Amino acid sequence: MTDRLIIRRPDDWHVHLRDGALLADTVAHTARQFARAIVMPNLSPPVSTTAEVEAYRARIIAARPAGSDFTPLMVLYLTDATDPDDVAAGFASGVLAACKLYPANATTNSAHGVTDVRNIYPVLERMQAIGMPFLVHGEVTDPAVDIFDREAVFIEQVLTPTLRDFPALKAVFEHITTRDAAEFVVAAGANVGATITPHHLMINRNAIFAGGIRPHAYCLPVAKREVHRLALRKAATSGSEKFFLGTDTAPHLVQAKESACGCAGIFNAPHALEAYATVFAEENALDKFEAFASEHGPNFYGLPLNSGRVVLERVRELVPERLPLGDGEIVPWLAGETIGWRFSGVTD
Ligand code: DOR
Ligand code: ZN
Repeated sequence: MTDRLIIRRPDDWHVHLRDGALLADTVAHTARQFARAIVMPNLSPPVSTTAEVEAYRARIIAARPAGSDFTPLMVLYLTDATDPDDVAAGFASGVLAACKLYPANATTNSAHGVTDVRNIYPVLERMQAIGMPFLVHGEVTDPAVDIFDREAVFIEQVLTPTLRDFPALKAVFEHITTRDAAEFVVAAGANVGATITPHHLMINRNAIFAGGIRPHAYCLPVAKREVHRLALRKAATSGSEKFFLGTDTAPHLVQAKESACGCAGIFNAPHALEAYATVFAEENALDKFEAFASEHGPNFYGLPLNSGRVVLERVRELVPERLPLGDGEIVPWLAGETIGWRFSGVTD
């Protein structure tokens, strides 16, 4: 049995760092394990122009712990009014790594999102031409569609026609939660990839209702049936270049989660690598872990692999019930549970 796992330093291809009082702590948690991260732009108000993205990037860099070389990879929030010239200039200057589609009202701070994907067709045309990644929150928002079907319906009604119209568009189907999405990505061209979170690999929808309502297991897209979790585990551990690590770490302070209308989001940054390693070990696929965590993402984005290594040890570790975050407290993913791995640092 391997007692130490040493892999190339990984990146997190889907992170919510928030802003203001939370920023120093969120950046520290992510930068402790990851060299780079794709930073989601759903602040309030959203980060929807290159100038706003540049200012947000400066705040993140200023919030890094002393000595940290963490690199935020920045994302512009698409709206019905996004200017293709602004996007192209932001990508050319290196400020922007990607643009994100939030269907309007699909999730946290998405009220300014896109009301109809056809409204951003001029932007997608330009992104396809310049090879700029298009990141997708893949859920329809029609309240008549059952919440557990929203990803599958999105594939049929939005993603399939959009990629038919832009067949060379580099697209990342973010935080996939269904067998349908995994199969869609496998069948698509090499220009289509997907991130998979640790929580969607670990829980199915029963976890949200286990003995009572469990707000800390609630995120969007919501966890689905067991058959879908098993398909995600198979995809993540398959070795396919199309699937890569993206935690969707999304902090909400404890009062915002434990409420009559609790926010969607799971804060998994403190033990993200340990959680993924648990899944890969359970699947007897530790030999595929490094590629998923540290190679497929950079290869998809056309970025160099990181130098340096991180070390994980196979020891039992108790995840704290709560952690301080900004001026408040947060309940981390796997709070109160004992996990079988411990991240023990970065080495050369
Ligand atoms: O659970 C989620 N939380 N899903 C999202 O899409 C957004 C995120 C957040 O920003 O809180
Ligand atoms: Zn997210």
